[in-house]
Amino acid sequence: MSDQSGGGIGVEIIGSALHLPEGTLTNKDLEGMMDTSDEWIVKRTGINTRRRADIANGETTSVLATEAMRKALANAKVDATELDLLLVATMTCDSPTPSVGCVVAREVGCRDIGAMDINAACSGFLYTVSMADAMIKSGTYKTIGVIGADCITRHIDYSNFGRGAAILFGDGAGAMVLRATDDSSKGMISHKMHADGNGAKHLFIPSCEIDFPEEAEFDERKLDKVQMNGQAVFKFAVTKFQEVISETLEESGLSADDIDHFVCHQANSRILDSARERFGIPSEKLLVNIQKYGNTVGGSIPIVFHELVADGKVQPGQKVMFLAFGAGLTWGSSLWQL
Ligand code: COA
Repeated sequence: MSDQSGGGIGVEIIGSALHLPEGTLTNKDLEGMMDTSDEWIVKRTGINTRRRADIANGETTSVLATEAMRKALANAKVDATELDLLLVATMTCDSPTPSVGCVVAREVGCRDIGAMDINAACSGFLYTVSMADAMIKSGTYKTIGVIGADCITRHIDYSNFGRGAAILFGDGAGAMVLRATDDSSKGMISHKMHADGNGAKHLFIPSCEIDFPEEAEFDERKLDKVQMNGQAVFKFAVTKFQEVISETLEESGLSADDIDHFVCHQANSRILDSARERFGIPSEKLLVNIQKYGNTVGGSIPIVFHELVADGKVQPGQKVMFLAFGAGLTWGSSLWQL
């Protein structure tokens, strides 16, 4: 590949897509399942409705991921056989093995390329897209499929005990196709990946009794269901979200005004508002779609990105900052020159 812009390989996002389950779970539906209200949910989170996959009838994480990748390949006008690697950000693999990556690669018709899952909870897509950029820039891979997909509702307790998390989460998937370009100005400019396992106790899914931290109290110790200390996670998210924006801007020598789109993990509209207010980000630069989908974990960021693309708001030459935080605890950023 010839170099036209002073060194190295660039990376372009040449296609994107989203795929959501048909089934919905509205605030009204939740009112019938637990002690909550539409008014409370809207006021505290900004969420009106969310999608819920019909897992019992085969609508699994792999199915959502496969459909998102198929559409992204079509939008990129790339055949599945052109992919060199497939990476899936997910924390809700259908079963311990095969990975969602292996299933998607089979279903969309990839060659026998590498395929794997990466688990960093709600920060998963951000970690994955950052790694994909580095792998392309190393010269080893030319075209990488990147997916964020989760069916988190299978791990939700829809009773009064689980209502803090039940109102937040929904299922969904988004995907991108990344490709090497001669224009080395394109691709990731800067990124941050952070994790602090000390905070894991605030947001986790226990598999067995010993997974419950001793010092934390839970109303009901339900296995395989999201356990969340909402206030602790809220505080963590507001703090780290703002910190990582500052870090990333400082490292790249840019100001918030230089960024065209802040593509943020959708966890709670109040968390997004806190960052908008702190950095003076106008609402048209930070799309909020949480009212429609809730928190879709790994799917959140690529879903927001694709909605911007579909609306014609994403243009070559723009700068986009992807931002996420989640269980682990994990958080980070990935700043791109399109
Ligand atoms: N419906 C109605 N009332 C509820 C409720 C619900 N779903 N969940 C909690 N409440 C009640 C509480 O019991 C409490 O009642 P009390 O004052 O009588 O004790 C009251 O509402 C306030 O609870 P609190 O936990 O302080 O609410 P909050 O304003 O912190 O909102 C969350 C709760 C979960 C919406 C909020 O903490 C949050 O969004 N946290 C971040 C979670 C997150 O983003 N997780 C994913 C990260 S990737």
